[in-house]
Amino acid sequence: MVRNRGEIGDRHFCPVEIGDSPLCPELLRKGWYIMSKYAWSNDYSVGNEILDQHHRNLIKLFNDAYETIKENKPFTETNKILSELTTYSIFHFYEEEKIMKNVGYAELENHKKQHSEFISKINEFKNNISAENSTLNEEIFLFLYNWLVNHICISDKKYVSVI
Ligand SMILES: [Fe+2]
Repeated sequence: MVRNRGEIGDRHFCPVEIGDSPLCPELLRKGWYIMSKYAWSNDYSVGNEILDQHHRNLIKLFNDAYETIKENKPFTETNKILSELTTYSIFHFYEEEKIMKNVGYAELENHKKQHSEFISKINEFKNNISAENSTLNEEIFLFLYNWLVNHICISDKKYVSVI
């Protein structure tokens, strides 16, 4: 549910409260940014308690990134969060891929590619972010949002029936 509206630069965003579903593709299509903390929803569950916990931890890191962006913290803080996100993602992806490999998941290679693209993108953000580059924060936020929607909620869901 949209509670308020505001602007970042010349773009609009619509903050929502914690607990609201972050899934709002209709607004995204209209160019609205969903500036919200992400909340875990059972809709994200992949039916494996360990992987669900990993995804909860990832969402927590997404929220930490959101806080640094929202509060305009120094870019060094955003960099620190992105480093933590990289470290944790590498661990999580390794564990997730191991489970998929053990069951002979047919989409494994394609899925691994998505994981490595995520790590590359986060590293790219980390390398490019600076005190002068303020629009990058918005780009990071949108990237994490899209990842949540497109990877955890769609790609990861595909292995639910086989693991
Ligand atoms: Fe995945």
